[in-house]
Amino acid sequence: MNATTYRKLIAKQLNPDFKFAVEVVEIPISQPAGSQLLIQNKFAGVNGGFDTLLCRGDVPYVNSIPPFDLGVEAVGKVVAIGENVKDFQIDDAVITTLRGGGYREYQVIDANLAVKVQEATPELLTLIPTAISALVALEQVGQMQSNEVVLVTAAAGGTGHIAVQLAKLAGNHVIGTCSSEAKAKLLRELGCDRIINYRTENLNQILKQEYPNGINLVFECVGKAVFDTCVENLAVRGRLVVVGFISEYANNVEQITQPRIYQQLFWKSASVRGFLMPNYKEYIPEARDRLLNLFYTDKLKVAVDSTQFPGIESIPDAVEYLLSGQNCGKVVVRF
Ligand SMILES: NC(=O)c1ccc[n+]([C@@H]2O[C@H](COP(=O)([O-])OP(=O)(O)OC[C@H]3O[C@@H](n4cnc5c(N)ncnc54)[C@H](OP(=O)(O)O)[C@@H]3O)[C@@H](O)[C@H]2O)c1
Repeated sequence: MNATTYRKLIAKQLNPDFKFAVEVVEIPISQPAGSQLLIQNKFAGVNGGFDTLLCRGDVPYVNSIPPFDLGVEAVGKVVAIGENVKDFQIDDAVITTLRGGGYREYQVIDANLAVKVQEATPELLTLIPTAISALVALEQVGQMQSNEVVLVTAAAGGTGHIAVQLAKLAGNHVIGTCSSEAKAKLLRELGCDRIINYRTENLNQILKQEYPNGINLVFECVGKAVFDTCVENLAVRGRLVVVGFISEYANNVEQITQPRIYQQLFWKSASVRGFLMPNYKEYIPEARDRLLNLFYTDKLKVAVDSTQFPGIESIPDAVEYLLSGQNCGKVVVRF
C-alpha cells in the first residue's frame, strides 16, 4: 500500500443544506493496532435523509456537534490488520455500518464490527443495513402477516424496493407508490401488485376505490399528505409504520392543526408505530444472515441506481439527487 493520506467528508458546521454543512479533508492513514482492520472503502451507501437531518442537528439520539464524520455503510477490502486479528486476512471483502465510517476512502475499525462478504460490490449496500431496516420494520414493528394488503411508499427507493419484495415473499398483496414510469417499471419487475404513480394518479382516490376495506399494513417513508392519506385508509386493526418522512427533511417541519390522531385510530383499532433501526439492534444478525441468503439464492433482487457518483467530492450531489426524488433503487458513491 503506497498511499499515506486519504480523504473523508466531515460536517464542519450545522446547516440545513447538506452541501453548506460539509467539507472534504485530507488526513494521514493510521495503521491498525491490536484487533483492528484498516479497510479501503470501495463504495458507500447514501442515506440522504439521515445525512441531512444529522447536518441540521435534528437527530435526537446523536450528539452532532461539528466537526463530525459522515456516512454509514461501506463495502471495501482489508488492506492491513492488527497483530491480534485472527478471522480476517488482507484482501478480504468486508461491509461495515459504523456511523462516520462511510464517506471516507479508508477507515480503521475493530474487526468485530466488520462482516466478511463474497465480493465488495455496491449491491450489498442495498442489503446492509438498508434491507435490514425494511425487514425489521415490517416484521417486528408492522407485525407483517400473509394474505394482507401492504402499502409501501417511496416503493422504488433503496429501502422501499426491498420492503416490496419482502412483503411479496410473505404472501401479501402489495401496493407501491412512486413518481415516474422508470420506477413503475422496476416495481413491475419486482412483482408489485398495484403501482401508483402519484404524479398521474390520486393516491387517496385509488385507495378508497380499489381497497374499500382499507390497508392492513403501511410501510410509510414519505410523510406529510402521504402520511395523512395512509392513516385515513388504514383497515380495521391496520398498522402504519413510520419508517421516515423524507418530504420534510429538506425543509422546516410543517406545523399543522387538525383533530388529534386518536380520532382516526380509535374507531378502527388501528395503530401508528415509529421505527428507528438503532432501537432494534438485537434483530440485526439474524436479519442480515437471512437477507444475504435470500440475495445469494436469487430470491431477493436488489436495485442500485445507475447514476454515477465518483469520489468523495460527489457526495453532496448524491445527497441532493436522492432528496430530489429521482433515484431508482439505492444511491451509492464509488471511491
Ligand atoms: N427508520 C429507520 O431506521 C430508517 C432506515 C433507513 C431508511 N429510512 C427511511 O426510509 C426512507 C427512504 O430512505 P432511502 O435512503 O431508502 O431513500 P430512497 O427511498 O432511495 O429515496 C427517497 C425517495 O423518496 C421519495 N419521495 C417521495 N416524496 C419525496 C419528497 N417530497 N422529497 C424527496 N423524496 C421523496 C422519492 O421517490 P418517489 O417520488 O418515487 O416516491 C425518492 O426517490 C426515508 O424516509 C428514510 O429516512 C429509515
